[in-house]
Amino acid sequence: MLKERVFSGIQPSGNLTIGNYLGALKNFSVQQDLYDCIYCVVDMHALTAGIKAEDLNRYSYEILSLYLAADLDPEKSIIYFQSHVPAHTELQWILNSITPLGQLSRMTQYKAKAEKHADNIYAGLLNYPILMAADIMLFDAKYVPVGDDQRQHLEFTRDLVEKFNSIYGETFVMPEMLATKTGTRIMSLQNPAAKMSKSDEDINGAIYILDSEKDIKKKIMRAVTDSVGVIAYNKDQAGLKNLIDIYSSFTDLSPDDIVKKFDNQGYGTFKKELVEVVVDGLRPIQNRYNEYMSNKDQLEEIYRSGAKKARKLANAKIKEVCDKIGLIEL
Ligand code: TYM
Repeated sequence: MLKERVFSGIQPSGNLTIGNYLGALKNFSVQQDLYDCIYCVVDMHALTAGIKAEDLNRYSYEILSLYLAADLDPEKSIIYFQSHVPAHTELQWILNSITPLGQLSRMTQYKAKAEKHADNIYAGLLNYPILMAADIMLFDAKYVPVGDDQRQHLEFTRDLVEKFNSIYGETFVMPEMLATKTGTRIMSLQNPAAKMSKSDEDINGAIYILDSEKDIKKKIMRAVTDSVGVIAYNKDQAGLKNLIDIYSSFTDLSPDDIVKKFDNQGYGTFKKELVEVVVDGLRPIQNRYNEYMSNKDQLEEIYRSGAKKARKLANAKIKEVCDKIGLIEL
């Protein structure tokens, strides 16, 4: 029997944070034995972030290496760069024609980014969710492991699937979000009301996957908490709740277990243990990352072979779509 498909991607637009890791990347490798998995470095998406050419190039290699370091296995999963499979943008163009402009302009991420860069808003930023929908639909993905901030984009994708299928007949699989338990929304260590982000200007708000032990310690010990002074897991102690979520995601202990473990102890003790948990959790990835980054030939072999497999699947789907919408086959 054919396994159901999983698709996900990460933008090479900055240094990956533990939010990216706990909300998405950590969840990627788990799916490899259960599903037919495709993991893409979505470099075309990163163009909408106004990125410099040399940064895009460097981050692309870095993310590919982090995929591998986080246990993605090219024998089990298809791993490739989005720009090596032109069918992504081909399908995006086709979907453009059935996407209501109003829906795009109401997307939360678009509004937030447009507000931040009010003087230079490009069409790519507005059309971004269509490319994301094309990524998922191109491979008929049933499950999409992403963090909570992508929920709206996934809902948007589901709308497009429904719309296309209703106009042209059953063509695309309806995708579902695959979220982690506690890592799905990791917040900034300096502002627990904002998500931890690779584009955050305050570097103390984010722990990066490749941060040194010293930096991780400094950031956690300085993380914003509260004056209640009791270890508890609730929304009124948002900073602490976030730290418990991080602890929980790295250890697989539930938030309740963690609260019990640190009963009657101060925030300082908890934070010190959290430093150890995070450092120990990231160390194996950091070590493997360095090995991959120092072997560009091996990386090239992996992304070339991934692109070949992805193109084959994608081209077959594009052919089916072109046929459905009335384009003449060559
Ligand atoms: P990106 O590159 O911003 O983030 C990559 C993944 O990390 C998750 N994430 C978080 N999870 C928990 N807490 C956080 N603070 C946090 N910050 C980020 C994101 O939810 C995401 O899963 N549009 C996507 C990339 C994309 C994609 C796709 C994903 C393009 N096409 C197709 C899935 C399927 C994005 O910008 O992710």
